[in-house]
Amino acid sequence: MSICEYRPGLENIPATQSSISYVDGQRGVLEYRGIRIEELAEKSTFLETAYLLIWGELPTKAELDAFKEEIQYHRRVKFRVRDMMKCFPESGHPMDALQASAAALGLFYSRRDLHNPAYIRAAAVRLLAKIPTMVAAFELIRKGNDPVQPRDDLDYAANFLYMLNEQEPDPLAARVFDVCLTLHAEHTINASTFSAMVTASTLTDPYAVIASAVGTLAGPLHGGANEEVVSMLEGIGSVANVRPYLDGLLERKAKIMGFGHRVYKVKDPRATILQSLAEQLFEKFGRDKYYDIAIELERAVEEKLGSKGIYPNVDFYSGLVYSKLGIPTDLFTPVFAISRVAGWLAHWKEQLAENRIFRPTQIYTGTHEAPYIPIEKR
Ligand code: CMC
Repeated sequence: MSICEYRPGLENIPATQSSISYVDGQRGVLEYRGIRIEELAEKSTFLETAYLLIWGELPTKAELDAFKEEIQYHRRVKFRVRDMMKCFPESGHPMDALQASAAALGLFYSRRDLHNPAYIRAAAVRLLAKIPTMVAAFELIRKGNDPVQPRDDLDYAANFLYMLNEQEPDPLAARVFDVCLTLHAEHTINASTFSAMVTASTLTDPYAVIASAVGTLAGPLHGGANEEVVSMLEGIGSVANVRPYLDGLLERKAKIMGFGHRVYKVKDPRATILQSLAEQLFEKFGRDKYYDIAIELERAVEEKLGSKGIYPNVDFYSGLVYSKLGIPTDLFTPVFAISRVAGWLAHWKEQLAENRIFRPTQIYTGTHEAPYIPIEKR
């Protein structure tokens, strides 16, 4: 076996072979199972896309109807899970609440039968169905309210917004949110997906797989940039302040949140779609100054950093869209998890199909034959 060069962060080291998604960062292309993200955003729904990601093909109408019905049936969470969430501190971060609740599902559905397609499907359905309910439940509980039950007459995205805001969303808001879920559902081997794969490779249960991925997504280097975009736009405060603010950042060599990407060297295709969704929302529900600030900032950054391949990434417009949908800033990452669970489950299933436990090696940099020094002589 050849000895590979050590690459911090495993940069550019293939960790798997996968047919789930594909990114071409030079051309700004993202595909799920070979289908361009632009086409899915326009024509598909999140649940249909989740089915595509997990089972590899677009469902027939009968398959999709059956899948939606199963999801709808499993949306409620047991009162014991809700009661457990009531014991969480209300100042706790919603991502921690989600990680604990996702892990807790394993207590209730622990029978592990990883070779049985029916078990895989039931676990995937339960996780897709219950994660939005748990995110909305913690939001209401921390405000001192009882969680509301899911509504069977509302589809996936509309039902989440209803459970969160306790009122039926406008159809445009629900459609925009559904597209946001589609856009964030999968993105090759990022940190949380890798974490899901490593956990899956031990053949543990799927609730542990998803809980470990949620914990990884929670870090500020991964899921949290859109929160920071919103606070940056608030800090800029006015269109007139965009260029002085940007010059200040560049002088300090600080990063501009929502710009740049390890893979994309052109505008992230998801940012282009999100920008048009933001425009539709602002047109219907009223424009606010933060959108104008964002447009001016994109223009200014492109002038100064476009030649270095620094353009808006997915996080630049998603925070603006989520704020307009009434989603609190610290729920942006849990909302990302609601969507990304589809990709994690797809990788879990793919991992199981040809599993080998992850067991990389290391380059040892310590000493050998070191003496044991008695405690009184240290
Ligand atoms: N603002 C200003 N300069 C930047 C930025 C930025 N946002 N991003 C990269 N650069 C510059 C960087 O200073 C460096 O310049 P130089 O070569 O002169 O030293 C060059 O571009 C390469 O930067 P890097 O940090 O080595 O690039 P990376 O591939 O390691 O980092 C990144 C990618 C996303 C971590 C980085 O662009 C960044 O920190 N962006 C801001 C945070 C952000 O928006 N994160 C969300 C990422 S998208 C989420 C997802 O897909 O999961």
